[in-house]
Amino acid sequence: MADRQRWNSRMIFLFAAVGSAIGLGNLWRFPYLTFKYGGGAFLIPYLIALLVLGIPLLIMEFAIGQRMQQGAVHAFKKVNHRLAGIGFGAVFSGFVVCVYYAAVMAWALVYLIKSFAVKVPWTGGAEGYFYNNVLKITDGIGTIGHFNWVLFFALLAVWVLIYFCVWKGTKSVGKVVMITMPLPIILLVVLFIRGVTLPGALTGIIFYLKPNFGALFDTEVWLAAVSQIFFTLSLAFGIMIAYASYNKETSDISKNAYVTALVNSAVSLFSGFVVFSVLGYMATAQGVGVADVVTSGPGLAFVAFPQALSLMPFAAFFSVLFFLTLLSLGIDSAFSLVEAVNATFLDTSKKLATKKVAFYVCFVSFVLGIIFTTGAGLYFLDLIDHFITNFGLVIVGIFEAIAIGWIFGAEKLRTYINSVSDWKVGKWWNYAIKYFVPAVLIIMVVAQFINETKENYGGYPGWAIAVGWLTVIIPIVIGIVLAIKPMKVEVNV
Ligand code: PHE
Repeated sequence: MADRQRWNSRMIFLFAAVGSAIGLGNLWRFPYLTFKYGGGAFLIPYLIALLVLGIPLLIMEFAIGQRMQQGAVHAFKKVNHRLAGIGFGAVFSGFVVCVYYAAVMAWALVYLIKSFAVKVPWTGGAEGYFYNNVLKITDGIGTIGHFNWVLFFALLAVWVLIYFCVWKGTKSVGKVVMITMPLPIILLVVLFIRGVTLPGALTGIIFYLKPNFGALFDTEVWLAAVSQIFFTLSLAFGIMIAYASYNKETSDISKNAYVTALVNSAVSLFSGFVVFSVLGYMATAQGVGVADVVTSGPGLAFVAFPQALSLMPFAAFFSVLFFLTLLSLGIDSAFSLVEAVNATFLDTSKKLATKKVAFYVCFVSFVLGIIFTTGAGLYFLDLIDHFITNFGLVIVGIFEAIAIGWIFGAEKLRTYINSVSDWKVGKWWNYAIKYFVPAVLIIMVVAQFINETKENYGGYPGWAIAVGWLTVIIPIVIGIVLAIKPMKVEVNV
């Protein structure tokens, strides 16, 4: 029997975990949320959510993976054979995310290649360039449009890249993260220096951080902070469980969790300076307010930022740097998702070959991802992302916390954590996992559900919303429930 794969050192594990955490969410979500939900004041709910929800859950995921020495599905199965569905829900969510995350990276790859030009091709029309030239977007989710060969091949290239990152499991991942974790940070520092020395940078930064304490009375702000913490720490996807399962059972859990969480948040905060100094510059150059140019998500990374870059001296050079930053930020998050899926298959049988499993997982993800390269791709991406981040993750999080807090026993896991960790975890952690985390997450799900019944998300037609439910939420819920109550199906042949 082959031994379990291992990270070569604790540092490599940390690079991999931090690499997974630091992703597009740090650059295109955090700065925008901060600006939108109270500027500097948003840091209060954000830090509270980090301390009372993010870190306890991260400690829990690291601990359960390391203790059980299995990926999410089998780790929960070891807690109780009826709980395997929780692991399934986590890994399934991760799988869905990696399918569309790779599509976003494909856009970044196209931009990177196009940046090697004397004059970047979106000069004077970044918005039209993104929607019409790159995405060839249609007028609604019901119209698929023509086949987009460029994005198709870009997606293929991204998947080939991901495959070669994960094909030898921890061996290849361990090498790749030594580059893909620090590289985007270094690139962000370069972009930061460029950004803050531009005229108008300060105006942008003031917009980013000027506190509005009134925002703290708005529940929406708190919910946004919680869901950002979940996404940014890659929680409830089975990733951190799988990654920790490749540690020795004696690795220091609490230090690992604090380091991962703090580095990740520091990168988020820092990214905000990069984004807002550049947006401040653009607003000043165009004589408009910062609020008029700020967006999040694809609109920020593929419209606002490229437009600002095109106004700068050495536009092509800085565009190359920026899209390289996006790609290197995203790649280790993308392959961490694939690793969580691979771990599930590899745990089922010791005979399976890592390379084969990796190949099939990448291949299937690629094929499913083709939908995101079509003219309706952005709409589908937005829809699926909405359901995963607002429901999928939260539902998995609730079950994870209840399973560990109540069935495995928070105190039992804490005793293990403290037996291997220098920084001891106090009793507060038990309360967080048993009461606080499930309560907050249940409130979130209910609030979100009520929102959902008021109007169709994003104005999408009913059938599209049904697709969201059917491809995201129903499988997760059914997976969890079926495992809890195994049906005895008698098959008589
Ligand atoms: N944490 C990553 C980010 O902030 C995203 C991610 C989510 C990666 C889930 C893997 C799994 O972008």
